[in-house]
Amino acid sequence: MQLQTTYMGLKLENPIMAGACPLTKNLDRVKEMEEAGIAGIVLPSLFEEEISYDQHAMDKFLNYSTNAVSAEAITFFPEPENFHNFEGEEYLESLRKIKSCVGIPVIGSLNGTTPGGWVKYAKLIQEAGADALELNIFYVPTDVSQSGSEVEKRYVEILKLIKAQVTIPVAVKMSPFFSSIANMAKRFDEAGANGLVLFNRFLEPDFDLDNLEASMRPSYSTRHEMRLPLHWTAILNGSIKASIAASRGIKSGTDILKLIMAGADATMISSLFYQEGIGSAAKLIKEMIQWMEEHEYTSIEQMKGSMSFRHIPDKSAFQRANYMKQLRSI
Ligand SMILES: Cc1cc2nc3c(=O)[nH]c(=O)nc-3n(C[C@H](O)[C@H](O)[C@H](O)COP(=O)(O)O)c2cc1C
Repeated sequence: MQLQTTYMGLKLENPIMAGACPLTKNLDRVKEMEEAGIAGIVLPSLFEEEISYDQHAMDKFLNYSTNAVSAEAITFFPEPENFHNFEGEEYLESLRKIKSCVGIPVIGSLNGTTPGGWVKYAKLIQEAGADALELNIFYVPTDVSQSGSEVEKRYVEILKLIKAQVTIPVAVKMSPFFSSIANMAKRFDEAGANGLVLFNRFLEPDFDLDNLEASMRPSYSTRHEMRLPLHWTAILNGSIKASIAASRGIKSGTDILKLIMAGADATMISSLFYQEGIGSAAKLIKEMIQWMEEHEYTSIEQMKGSMSFRHIPDKSAFQRANYMKQLRSI
C-alpha cells in the first residue's frame, strides 16, 4: 500500500504527523514516534513572549556590564552558561538534537502576534536544521474598536516578515474565526504561505466558582471537532497553491482518510497521543490500510481530494441548503 504523501515539498512516509505539543520536544518521545510510524513532527511553539524576555534579559546584562568601568567589572558579565539557560537557546538546542537523531521531517513552530524582533528566530530555527516552520498567530482581539480588517492585515504582515527571514517552507496555523475563512486562506497563499494548518485550537478559559477566578486548564479535543477541518479542507482543495494539513479531533484511521479525501496533504495529531499513547499511531496506520484494501484503493495520492467541494456533484452538503434541510428533519 502506498501511503506516501508530500506536505510543503516534504516527503512523508504516510499522512500522520505529530502536531505541535510538548511531546515533540523530548528526544526519546520523538524516537518513539518515528518507531510507531509517525511521518513527521511539529515542535511545540516558541512564544514571542519567551523570546522578548530573552532579549530583555540580554540587554540588561549587556548594559549593566558596559556601565561598569572598574577592574572588577569583568565579574559583572553573565557567565556563558546563563545565556544557554534562555528559553530560545534551549529550543534551538533541542531542535538540533532531534534533527541529528531522527530521519523524519522536523518542523519548528513560532507563536507570536506583533511584528517585533522575535521574528528573527525564524532564521535561527532554520539554521538549527528545521525542515520547515509553522507560524501560529494566536491573537485574541479583545479591543472593541479594532476591526476585522485590521486584525487580518496584522496576520498577513507577520507572515510576510517571517517569510523574509527564511528559505524553508512556512505554514500558517489558521484560526477558524475569520469572517471569510476562504478569503484569508487565499491571502495567506498569495503572501507566500507554503502550507495551511486547518485549524488552530484556541484555549478558552473556564470559571472556577469556588475560588472565583478564571482557570486555563488545557483540554483534549473530541472526535466531533474533526468536522470543522473536514468541511474547510473540502472547500479549499484546489483553490489555493499551499499544501493543507488538517488537524483537530482526529481519533481513527478513517478520520485521516476522510480528511485526505477532502483534500488534505497531511494530518496533525496531538490529543490522541496524550490520551492513548504514541503507539496508537501504529493502530491508525493499520486502520487506514485495512479500509483502503477493502475498498480497493492503492495509494493516498489517488484518494487526495476525491470528495472535495469541486469533485462531489451534490454540493449542498457544504452549503446553506443542507443546514436548512437538516434542521427541518429533526
Ligand atoms: C498539550 C498540548 C499542547 C499544545 N501546544 C501547542 C503549541 O505549543 N503550539 C501550537 O501551535 N499548538 C499546540 N497545541 C495544539 C495542537 O498542535 C493541535 O493543533 C490541537 O491540539 C488539535 O489537534 P488534536 O485534536 O489532535 O489535539 C497543543 C495541544 C496540546 C494537547
